[in-house]
Amino acid sequence: MQEPQSPSRGAGRQVFLETFGCQMNELDSELVRGHLGALGYRFTSDPQSADVILFNTCSVREQAENKVLSRVGRVGQRKRRGARVVLGVIGCMAERYGAAMLTNYPQIDLMCGPGELDKLPLLIENAVKTGAVEAAEGARGEAGPSGPLQRVALQGNRTRRSATLSAAADNLELLDLSRSFDPDSGGGPAARRNRAYVRITRGCNKYCTYCVVPYTRGPEVHRPPGRIVEECRRLADQGVIEITLLGQTVNHYLYTHGASITVGGAEAPQIGPGASAFAGNGASGGRRTTFADLLRRIHDEVPGIRRLRFVTSYARDFGDDILRAMADCRRICRYLHLPAQSGSDRILKLMNRGYSRSLYVDLIDRARALLPGVCIAGDIIVGFPTETEADFGLTRDLLRRVRYKNCFIFKYSPRPGTAAARRLADDVPEAVKRRRNRELLALQAEIGGEVHRELVGREVEVFVEQVSPHQPRRAASQATGGRRGPRVELGWERPAFQMSGRTEGDLITVFDLPPGQDPDDLIGRMVTVEITGSGSLVLEGRLAPTPANGVRSHD
Ligand code: 5AD
Repeated sequence: MQEPQSPSRGAGRQVFLETFGCQMNELDSELVRGHLGALGYRFTSDPQSADVILFNTCSVREQAENKVLSRVGRVGQRKRRGARVVLGVIGCMAERYGAAMLTNYPQIDLMCGPGELDKLPLLIENAVKTGAVEAAEGARGEAGPSGPLQRVALQGNRTRRSATLSAAADNLELLDLSRSFDPDSGGGPAARRNRAYVRITRGCNKYCTYCVVPYTRGPEVHRPPGRIVEECRRLADQGVIEITLLGQTVNHYLYTHGASITVGGAEAPQIGPGASAFAGNGASGGRRTTFADLLRRIHDEVPGIRRLRFVTSYARDFGDDILRAMADCRRICRYLHLPAQSGSDRILKLMNRGYSRSLYVDLIDRARALLPGVCIAGDIIVGFPTETEADFGLTRDLLRRVRYKNCFIFKYSPRPGTAAARRLADDVPEAVKRRRNRELLALQAEIGGEVHRELVGREVEVFVEQVSPHQPRRAASQATGGRRGPRVELGWERPAFQMSGRTEGDLITVFDLPPGQDPDDLIGRMVTVEITGSGSLVLEGRLAPTPANGVRSHD
């Protein structure tokens, strides 16, 4: 962050921040909240009462972008009716659309790419000033994208894949480092209590042909391990017990010590190595920290973290060293999010995924052998250009072979600027994509149901996240006529909450809050749950009668 931080700058301005898309965006939003909060901005959950509306956007699929465009349209209507509000589009859509978006959507006051978020306060203040000028003049001010007041901060095509890091990336590292180390602060949702995301790499160099990420988030940059461990330690000191490490392809984390030093002698972020660096299966060579080394370091040096997980894994170069670290370290979750994208080698090749179906399945087999009980989640794209029924059949087989606990299934949408959009016609008809999507969802529901059923009758450790967004029909309808929410309206009944959390393997688990217990006493804690039932995406259970759970016995 270049500008001095003056806590008065935000002057109590109310900000509404909505996040779209992935966990990386959730983390970015958290950092933005911390940064703006430190400058005196306040956060509101009501866009109508906000002085500043920010959409932290996602470009990975067309659908996510359309949602944002409809929100932008709505704010435009409000502004045309005279509402005085600053509208900012931040994140991947800003980067992808570029400054032209300001012309096409004149209601947008500022745009900030994911690699420039440290400049956001400056952009907001500029927009506020511009707004004041406009209001005084009764007309739109002069400050366009290249006008006197900066409205746009985007990476553009700068320094892509260059060997050295731009100053921008170093400033971004500061944004990660300066995160507010109070998990309850910054207006973050209570659901996030005691758990946190920690970024280990940003950007991506893989250039899968369907994917927009290398163009919006820039080249792969790896953070120094010391800083990552330090961040985990500080979060643990604040009470965080579950950390999820984030990277586009986490197992490609590799830091070479001594190669990137800042002026003060501290290690700096560095551009990720090419795939050839993993030819030796990622073995550590003393001067390098591999992903397995990093996992062991965090596990051993930050014992306060009771659960360490990571997303997203990449099927190539996922060595046994990582699986062994997971097997040796009890507090590393036996959970892998390992997108396959397709079960057909021909399609995988067109996608430039860099692995074959057999390499993928071999990893699954190695993981199951070394990590009994491991839960695996996946991503699949259906309807990639030229996908035939035979290709699709191979993907169906893959689902049966892998037995995902859940699998996100997406219909291919061409993303402008990507190799697939440039070179391959989007030739699978929408109706076919829809059918394949439906078929895979049905198959996965069956498999997911079986995976979940295996846990019925067992006791599992659950990290409690929130009051369940889906109250059981029984409890809800008794008290509120079917509306959601606790049974408080009738006064004479005790509130009955259903709580929800996750197992080590990331299985969603719901259970009723015992009478007399406050949901806030459980959120952010680890409890033992006896599993009594299951669905295709959820486990149901009840709190085990243990003193640690605060439950004496069941009636
Ligand atoms: N079309 C459909 N799905 C996509 N994904 C990424 N790009 C596209 C696209 N162009 C999916 C992949 C990825 C997930 C985050 O989104 O499955 O793993």
